[in-house]
Amino acid sequence: MEMKGFTIWFTGLSGSGKTTLARVVEEILRERGMQVEVLDGDVVRTNLSKGLGFSKEDRDTNIKRIGFVCHLLSRNGVVAIASAISPYRDVRDSNRRMIGRFVEVYVKCPLDVLVKRDVKGMYAKALAGEIKGFTGVDDPYEEPLNPEVLVETDKESEEACVQKIIRTLELMGYIPGADASGETSEEEEEKIRQRLRDLGYI
Ligand code: ADX
Repeated sequence: MEMKGFTIWFTGLSGSGKTTLARVVEEILRERGMQVEVLDGDVVRTNLSKGLGFSKEDRDTNIKRIGFVCHLLSRNGVVAIASAISPYRDVRDSNRRMIGRFVEVYVKCPLDVLVKRDVKGMYAKALAGEIKGFTGVDDPYEEPLNPEVLVETDKESEEACVQKIIRTLELMGYIPGADASGETSEEEEEKIRQRLRDLGYI
C-alpha cells in the first residue's frame, strides 16, 4: 500500500510530554513500515535554529522553519513529527495551511503539575525570575482550539495517549489499521470518532 506523507504536530508546555509521546509514535509508525522523521524543538535549536532565542519573533521563526521542513518531508511520503512548544496559534495554523495533511496533538498538562515534575529544573528558575519569558510562567501559550487529538498527560497513561493518537491516524485514513487492533475501549473509540466528526473528517 502506497502511503502518503503527513505531519503530526505536537504542541504544549515544556515538560508536558511532547517528546516522549513523539518518540513512541515514531517507533510504532516505523514498525508499520512508514518513513518517519522527528523534528524536536530542543534538537532543532542546536542546528537548524541555532542562535534563535525565545522572543515571539524568534519562536515564530523557529516554528516556521520546523513547519517548512515538515512540509518538504510530508509531500515526499514521509511522516514528519514536530515536537515544539509552538506557543502561538497563528503560526501553527499557517503551518497547517501550508502542509495540508496536518494532525495537531495538544499535549495538555496543568502548570502546577509541570512545576512539581520540573524535569529540567527550568520552572524553578523561571519562577525565581532567573529565566525571563518562560512559556506558561511569564510568556503566553495559546491553546489549540480544535486539535485533532487532545491528550492530558496528568490524567491519562502514556500508553493511553499513544493509543489515542494512533487510533486517530487510523480513523483519518493516514495509516493502515494494525492486525492487533481493539486496544481502544468502546468509550474511547466513540470519543475519538466524535472529535473527528466534529472536525469534518469522518
Ligand atoms: S518554541 O517556543 O520555539 O516552540 P522550543 O520547543 O523550540 O520552543 O524550545 C523549548 C525548550 O527550550 C524548552 O523545553 C526548554 O527546555 C527551553 N527553554 C529555554 N528558555 C525557554 C523559555 N523562555 N520558554 C520556554 N522554553 C525555554
